Amino acid sequence: MMWLTLIYSCIGGAALLYALYRWVIPAAVQYHGGLALIWHDVIVERMLDTLTQSTRPQRLLNAVQKKATRGDPRSVVKAIDDFCRHKEWAMNVGDEKGCILDSVVSEINPATVLELGTYCGYSTVRIARLLPPHAKLITLEFNPDFAAIARQVIAWAGLEEKVQLVEGASGDWIPKMKEQFGITTFDLVFLDHWKDRYLPDTKLMEECGLLRKGSVLLADNVICPGTPDYLEYIRSSPRYESRYFKSHLEYTKVEDGLEKSVFKG
Ligand SMILES: C[S@@+](CC[C@H](N)C(=O)[O-])C[C@H]1O[C@@H](n2cnc3c(N)ncnc32)[C@H](O)[C@@H]1O
Repeated sequence: MMWLTLIYSCIGGAALLYALYRWVIPAAVQYHGGLALIWHDVIVERMLDTLTQSTRPQRLLNAVQKKATRGDPRSVVKAIDDFCRHKEWAMNVGDEKGCILDSVVSEINPATVLELGTYCGYSTVRIARLLPPHAKLITLEFNPDFAAIARQVIAWAGLEEKVQLVEGASGDWIPKMKEQFGITTFDLVFLDHWKDRYLPDTKLMEECGLLRKGSVLLADNVICPGTPDYLEYIRSSPRYESRYFKSHLEYTKVEDGLEKSVFKG
């Protein structure tokens, strides 16, 4: 009898913990940016890394290889969104803000694109799949483990021809863009790396002459985690015409958005 009580208590405790992990805590944190990021990006990631002896980017790549069709970028994007909505949150621009990104890319129809912050290549695939023939997307990532995963995700989507993934820090590479890649200016820059780099890298791109009249900067996460110094600069500078697109932090209900800023020269 005592054994039976013990076994039932263990099963009940395990079920309670699972319900907390799977539904209760995610539902409780989904309206609070700080808590959502601590839960998904710190606690759950570390716990699953330890339990599975793998990394989140590796698990994301496995999901792509299992669920997406080779050479079909749409299925790659869908596989990542399904993984992040139903299994594990990840810091991609995500499906909701991704639609805004898509519409900006389609509107501009850029020939040259710079992406700052590749992570696993989700937004890279989203952008590259919409580019016209002969267009070029350069994406920068300073974490070699993320870059290795992103290369495989981009290859799975069949987009290697359109994408040049460069490993290294934005501050080091931006000044070398012209001589190393023969770039004159970028039609579109997607800023999605660490938030304290948005402003210095924007000023660096201006100094290096990488922006022309009409170049568009599209910045993610301007509300959550937030980029107050960048927003203040870009909205008050007479050199930019800027507009905010309200949305939500990837895979949550926390307010976040994209800032689209057109360089006026
Ligand atoms: C939010 S994630 C990018 C998500 C990706 N754009 C997407 O939507 O799929 C930010 C990435 O930027 C990288 N990163 C941060 N600061 C960087 C810098 N200064 N230079 C290059 N990469 C950077 C990080 O390692 C991280 O992988």
